Amino acid sequence: MSEVTAIEHLIASQRRWSPHATGQFTSLMHDLILSAKIISRNVNQAGLVDILGSTGSINVQGEQVQKLDTFANNTLVYRMQSSGAVCAVGSEEMAEPFFVPENEPHGHYVIFFDPLDGSSNIDVGVSIGTIFSIYRRPDDENYWELTPEALMRPGLEQVAAGYFLYGSSTMLVYSTGHGVNGFTLDSSIGEFLLTHPNIQIPRVGKYYSANHGYYKYWNEAAQQAVTTFSLPENRPPRSLRYVGSLVADFHRTLLKGGLFFYPEDSNHPNGKLRLMYEASPMAFLAEQAGGKATDGKMRILEKVPPSIHVRTPLIIGSADDVDQVMEFYQDSGSN
Ligand code: AHG
Ligand code: MN
Ligand code: MN
Repeated sequence: MSEVTAIEHLIASQRRWSPHATGQFTSLMHDLILSAKIISRNVNQAGLVDILGSTGSINVQGEQVQKLDTFANNTLVYRMQSSGAVCAVGSEEMAEPFFVPENEPHGHYVIFFDPLDGSSNIDVGVSIGTIFSIYRRPDDENYWELTPEALMRPGLEQVAAGYFLYGSSTMLVYSTGHGVNGFTLDSSIGEFLLTHPNIQIPRVGKYYSANHGYYKYWNEAAQQAVTTFSLPENRPPRSLRYVGSLVADFHRTLLKGGLFFYPEDSNHPNGKLRLMYEASPMAFLAEQAGGKATDGKMRILEKVPPSIHVRTPLIIGSADDVDQVMEFYQDSGSN
């Protein structure tokens, strides 16, 4: 195993791609990594300390807030806000983005996150994660006002995106637009070490991943598309894998190839996943690794969010598998 830490790797990559970097992004990543180490520690202690279960409150999305959701959100908001590197923070757990006051240390970056993804899996020992998406506020004449509306940028403008996976080991997988790299937390030294350099998603995968239980709520294109994976005519079927934590399902898809599919359905007319802090960062990683991501009509990275918590259908993974699904969407005229 390499002994290159995530921060060392970032500094080396900046020397190559951004020789004029000021250190602000490095400082942001340092604080983000520290937040994730703290969250990971608490996730690993779940059950031993009183951190399992619900807080009893409902978030802006109408979903039960778990104690770990709140803990992860507070940890990230505090660390990001005090990093001196960000001017605004948006989170699944906050109705509106938070702006760092002008008179406090702040920087160019805007960060969005899903502090804990896979909340329904917290209490049952299944992998969960933290997803992040980072934009840079221009400091030239394209400077944006710091209003909630001005932060609504398409995913193509992300300068970095990634996730932390709290699974069999704790991992960081991220991209700054020059490929995707994966790091594994070595808890004996408290550092993320480079274990998965330059991840490439296979063109076709062994698995498909969708909540098959909602089949009857899907439209015809979605039903037909998934049927070609589960009941193909002239080939063996693909294996189904569905964890119910996007981070875990996407991580497997990224490493092993295949398709992750969360379409719109009659209960979720715009899909369930959130564009800004679930679909967009994963789409950035998928494309950087040679895969694709679409909502069935357009490339995820080109979608301009109308508001921070907007949802989107998501079809993401191996390029050929995504193309195969798209044929059904085009044929059905869902396009
Ligand atoms: P969160 O826990 O952040 O609210 O996200 C849950 C999401 C995502 O992780 C997962 O892919 C999806 O919900 C699972 O939804 P279903 O239970 O409807 O399949
Ligand atoms: Mn989530
Ligand atoms: Mn969440």
